[in-house]
Amino acid sequence: MFELLKEQPADNILALMGMYASDKRTKKLDLGVGVYRNSDGITPIMDAVKKAENVLIKKQISKSYVGLLGNLDFVTGMKELILSNSISDYNYVGAQAPGGTGSLHQIFLLLKQANPELTVWISNPTWPNHSSMLKHLGLNFSYYRYFSEQTGIVDFDGMFADLQQAKQNDVILLHGCCHNPTGANLTVSQWEEVAKLCERDGVMPMVDLAYQGFGHGLNEDVEGLRLMASMVPELAVAASCSKNFGIYRDRVGVVLYCNKDNQVLPIVSGNLKSVNRLTYSFPPDWGATVVSTILYDKNLRQSWDNEVNGIKNSINALRLELKNALRRCTKSDRFAFLTDHTGMFSRLGLSSKQVIALRQEHAVYMVGDSRINIAGLNSQTVEFLSNAIAKVL
Ligand SMILES: Cc1ncc(COP(=O)(O)O)c(C=O)c1O
Repeated sequence: MFELLKEQPADNILALMGMYASDKRTKKLDLGVGVYRNSDGITPIMDAVKKAENVLIKKQISKSYVGLLGNLDFVTGMKELILSNSISDYNYVGAQAPGGTGSLHQIFLLLKQANPELTVWISNPTWPNHSSMLKHLGLNFSYYRYFSEQTGIVDFDGMFADLQQAKQNDVILLHGCCHNPTGANLTVSQWEEVAKLCERDGVMPMVDLAYQGFGHGLNEDVEGLRLMASMVPELAVAASCSKNFGIYRDRVGVVLYCNKDNQVLPIVSGNLKSVNRLTYSFPPDWGATVVSTILYDKNLRQSWDNEVNGIKNSINALRLELKNALRRCTKSDRFAFLTDHTGMFSRLGLSSKQVIALRQEHAVYMVGDSRINIAGLNSQTVEFLSNAIAKVL
């Protein structure tokens, strides 16, 4: 039977990881993979997570099923963390899902069930899994302009012009903060403009939030999203705990759906239960319960806040170091946008020829569109990278 299957294209980032692993050169640099690494090159388990796990090991007395929406304390805690009081407790429903990917997937399923004709508008460029999943699920999608290669910042005029073409009941998918792959983000007033457009044209915003706290801070990073939530009639959020809790493999994410008309909420909640039942039934409990343990314990919450802050500060310090080193090595301000970008990624604006030369001649691995993971750097490798880039320009 399965000989009838077609071969699937390899995931670019996983292929890059494979090439990096088999590179025999001793001095090499992997800036492809999207995980946070500390200055020792390790993706550590956060202290707050370890402590919460120890609490749970002692406290947990059963591993029986929880419920189709997962751990509801976790869902409420995540709503507070993300939306705070921009949405009242009576105007949203939610469900736990396996990671940000699982959360996006379940919202896409609901969209398809509600209206298979709608179009989901995604940024150009975006995290590649957005278009792959939409294609796989048979949903229509279109790109809106997002990033200016010339300036290294958001092309808001282009974006806004493209979004005017969205029709009533279409969906605009936005990155909540720390845009992947570009690192360039909307300002709060641009969030407001998009919210007004959604309200005016009957378009639903959907927000993918995977890096809360890694840009300017846990509250600052969602200022635009909270403003939008307070303005629009309805909104969906797919959030990941993979990065900001460092629990990538535990698969923790949340779906939140907000509507000012709370009559529709029970239907949405029932449909979330149903799509969960039809896909994986119950979402995995451990990681979500670790997160809720942290969110509801004053000391663990403080410790986690401090750790997220530390990660944010180290990424921003690396951004500054890299900008300065590149200015020195290239004798230009071409990469000055690095400190305007936020989060783990920046798109450098190098050609694919330059990206290949970096890999072949200097053992520097980055994704083909010249996205680098800033958190894959440290003080020594900043210099190594900057020299290599100057040589291929
Ligand atoms: C923008 C964006 N959304 C969602 C995800 C998915 O995260 P998760 O590993 O939780 O599925 C990622 C991960 O790279 C991402 O960058």
